[in-house]
Amino acid sequence: MKRRVGILTSGGDCPGLNATIRGVAKACYERFGDEVEIVGIEDGYSGLINNQCREMVSSDFSGILTTGGTIFGTKRTPFKMMKVVGEDNVDKVKAMKETYKKQKLDCLLTLGGNGTHKTANLLSEEGLNVIGLPKTIDNDIWGTSVTFGFHTAVDTATDVIDRLHTTANSHGRILVVEIMGNKAGWLTLYSGIAGGADMIVIPEIPYDIGKLCAACEKRSRSGKGFSILAVAEGAFDVNEAKLKKKERARLRAEAGITTATSRIAKQIEENTGCETRVCVPGHMLRGGSPSAYDRVLATKFGVHAAKLIADEKYGYAVAMIDNVVSENPLSEVAGKTKFVPENDQLVRTAKDIGISFGD
Ligand code: F6P
Repeated sequence: MKRRVGILTSGGDCPGLNATIRGVAKACYERFGDEVEIVGIEDGYSGLINNQCREMVSSDFSGILTTGGTIFGTKRTPFKMMKVVGEDNVDKVKAMKETYKKQKLDCLLTLGGNGTHKTANLLSEEGLNVIGLPKTIDNDIWGTSVTFGFHTAVDTATDVIDRLHTTANSHGRILVVEIMGNKAGWLTLYSGIAGGADMIVIPEIPYDIGKLCAACEKRSRSGKGFSILAVAEGAFDVNEAKLKKKERARLRAEAGITTATSRIAKQIEENTGCETRVCVPGHMLRGGSPSAYDRVLATKFGVHAAKLIADEKYGYAVAMIDNVVSENPLSEVAGKTKFVPENDQLVRTAKDIGISFGD
């Protein structure tokens, strides 16, 4: 029985996309031999909408285990726009279903984060055979303890914090480092602990600037001439926590505040008199070769997706559940975010060694 498998990568890229694609492909060739054909879809759902597809051969998947980025390219095609017919007059859902049909696909593998899973679920509800694979440096996909790309980004962010330590120490400065993570603070939490940050600020725990300043001053009094704050890009303070997201954004724009990080740095400098600097590694956290951990995880996830194809078990998202690779229904994953619980063991661990969250 011939099987045609379409694969796309959607949303922000991360290390481990190619390792996952390779894992899927190798496991498919191993299981199905000549009975499988793989179709690469370019630039995420945009390629599916516009029928930008290419026929792949097994050699296309060689030499990509270690490479960052994605061999298929990626784009952000927001879920909320999927059902909206724009100026181009294209009915995107209809177009995606047509491409699936034209390409004679038996199933579609979507590698992506929360937005990608929402569209994957939509296509599954529309009758396509879809399997999602959990990618993101944010580690915020519901139902899986880990996503590929996360641990590589933790390593990169940790390296950044390590480097900031030496310069902060030499100059006796406060260094505020902004770590990616708009909604969830997993990356900041892990790298903050691994990098020995003195303060960790995440969206799940709104901060009180007075408490962050007090923590810096406590360190100076104890003879530590510098402090490192790891701040998630989506962080907000206790006053902003009372507001709706839109209202928060409006007030920030009016006050000319671009990021929480720059505001925290400014306020700490004003309140403590300590010289403060900001570091934003930004997209560096999404780049580079996947770590050994992510290569193994990506391979395990890819192999599991091939098993789901063999079992014709569609409408699921691959996941790590209780340390075992498994799957959740797409309908359960779509539309949810895995936040850091306020009482998370890692948060308590950090607090137990004196790291301040500003709460
Ligand atoms: O979703 C992953 C992520 O890295 C977030 O942490 C960040 O807010 C966002 O992507 C930035 O995305 P881009 O600049 O690619 O749109």
